[in-house]
Amino acid sequence: MGELFDSYNSNYGEAVEGSIRFSGLRHDFFLIAKADLLRRLVVERKLRQGGSAVRALDVGCGIGSLHPYLDGAFDSLDGCDVSQDSILRASQHNPRVAYRTCSTQGLPYEDGTFDLAFASCVVHHVTPSSWLDFFLEIRRVVRPGGIACIIEHNPYNPMTRLAVFRCPFDQDAVLLKAARARSLFQETGFSDIRSEHFLLLPSATPLAKKVERLLSALPLGAQYACSAHV
Ligand SMILES: C[S@@+](CC[C@H](N)C(=O)[O-])C[C@H]1O[C@@H](n2cnc3c(N)ncnc32)[C@H](O)[C@@H]1O
Repeated sequence: MGELFDSYNSNYGEAVEGSIRFSGLRHDFFLIAKADLLRRLVVERKLRQGGSAVRALDVGCGIGSLHPYLDGAFDSLDGCDVSQDSILRASQHNPRVAYRTCSTQGLPYEDGTFDLAFASCVVHHVTPSSWLDFFLEIRRVVRPGGIACIIEHNPYNPMTRLAVFRCPFDQDAVLLKAARARSLFQETGFSDIRSEHFLLLPSATPLAKKVERLLSALPLGAQYACSAHV
């Protein structure tokens, strides 16, 4: 898996733009929506209770495309990926993020290091037989009371299916439904599991966002986020 994304590190953005061009949307539309969702998660899940600092980890961060949009969202941000070349590129562009290469066997952090660990569009690149271990490893590095969040493609959305079909590095992707993400959180001992669909409308106006939130329980949006407490 590391090798696949090593080979895309210099043209990852172009490959993503190519796969979503039919929608008329740019990659940053999706990245802004994900960053907004993560900022909201910090508030809704009360991660700053008592004024404590929030240390976050982006598992499978790739070339760090999301990181410029997360400025100020957390007190510190770490990122890791199995692709060494992607990590090299990420660290050149985001000097304030602490990057490490990881292996598919585990994350290079002590138990309970993070208040929040998230993985955006990563699980569908992990072999399904390793999904449980992937969730367990995320759980291990989050402190008790902290939060894990998985952001994934919604397999029920036909536009998402088309984008995955057109994306050169998604050929082996195995999409997981939100219900499967919830059950993986449950099987690995997480609690207070919540999921919401987003990226439903091609607009970021306050009205579009409000409509999207009202419909977020339905499997309509292009992606979903599933989060849970350790
Ligand atoms: C589609 S990219 C997403 C990158 C980034 N999260 C984003 O949203 O732009 C998937 C990334 O997951 C990484 N990956 C796949 N399996 C992984 C694993 N077991 N642990 C960590 N990273 C992994 C790949 O190397 C790749 O960089």
